[in-house]
Amino acid sequence: MSAPVLQVDGLVKHFPILGGLLQRRVGEVRAVDGVSFAIAKGETLGLVGESGCGKSTIGKTVLKLIEPTAGRILLGGEDVTKLKPGAMWQHRRHIQTIFQDPYSSMNPRLAAGTIVGEPLENYGITRGGETSERVAQLFQRVGLRPDAMRKYAHEFSGGQRQRLGIAKALSVNPELIVADEPVSALDVSVQAQVLNLLIDLQEEYGLAYLFISHDLAVMRHISHRIAVMYLGRIVELATKRTLFTQPLHPYTEALLSAATAPDPRRRRTRKRIVQGDVPSPARPPPGCHFHTRCPYAIAECKVTAPPLIEVAPGHHVACLRRPVGGGPQPLSVSG
Ligand SMILES: Nc1ncnc2c1ncn2[C@@H]1O[C@H](COP(=O)(O)OP(=O)(O)OP(=O)(O)O)[C@@H](O)[C@H]1O
Ligand SMILES: [Mg+2]
Repeated sequence: MSAPVLQVDGLVKHFPILGGLLQRRVGEVRAVDGVSFAIAKGETLGLVGESGCGKSTIGKTVLKLIEPTAGRILLGGEDVTKLKPGAMWQHRRHIQTIFQDPYSSMNPRLAAGTIVGEPLENYGITRGGETSERVAQLFQRVGLRPDAMRKYAHEFSGGQRQRLGIAKALSVNPELIVADEPVSALDVSVQAQVLNLLIDLQEEYGLAYLFISHDLAVMRHISHRIAVMYLGRIVELATKRTLFTQPLHPYTEALLSAATAPDPRRRRTRKRIVQGDVPSPARPPPGCHFHTRCPYAIAECKVTAPPLIEVAPGHHVACLRRPVGGGPQPLSVSG
């Protein structure tokens, strides 16, 4: 098997909390607290979890927009945490991003064709007429009309703008695309179109996606494997099918039942599975971070942080109540 496109090992990112008159470090936000995963060529790994669990922070460290506190990030086997500033520029070409709001990253004074052509010229991939030709191809490939090349970003609808962002990301032939909530601001029908476009492009170019979303329906549409995050840690990692049919972590169970219970009465009882609010990542609970909201927690959960263990081929879970070997224990689920 070839090296994964992306490998993340023991990633930690703590943000300092400054306080007092002298703005001293008085604490830290443990945004990401020891996360490991890999993504293969042509694969989509979904990162899902409630707001503030560290999804975007992982995306930003992978994109090298922020430096990790600890851990390694390997792109095609090369450790990018050690890259010299000069090599960064070439690195950026291999890993592109699609934002929730592509508009914020686009120069409002440039025509759409220029926006998409800019990286091609900057990296010396094409020049002049060649660039125009390539841009026209990209517009066609992402489903934008050729006359859209002369328009400005503000003249596009949300969905078209996202297509424009995809064309720009695609222009430099990246290996990995980090997509952080790329369809969250779009109507559901437009969401499906953009997701389908991303799936088609992945098949065509063998792209790897790190796909961040809090929306399980979106995850189900696009991901091959899904990592469920809770307060800076991955609590469960499995193929989409396994995760949706045999979730093992109580938090995954809770997320799924809150999102999928069809009958409102049932939804009410099931909602009780996740009690209370997410604790602050500045003061995460000791032991298993989820124990304060977990209906199955035992005394041990308050002291011991469960490691992420492979309980079946490709199915990883971090829960003390799940045995190592011997298959998962059925829990007595109420509701
Ligand atoms: N630059 C920063 N300085 C301090 N704290 C930060 C910074 N960026 C993120 N955080 C904190 O780190 C934690 C994780 O944030 P992050 O944006 O990664 O979460 P998220 O899972 O992407 O959430 P959402 O679903 O709302 O986008 C949060 O508590 C956030 O407030
Ligand atoms: Mg985010």
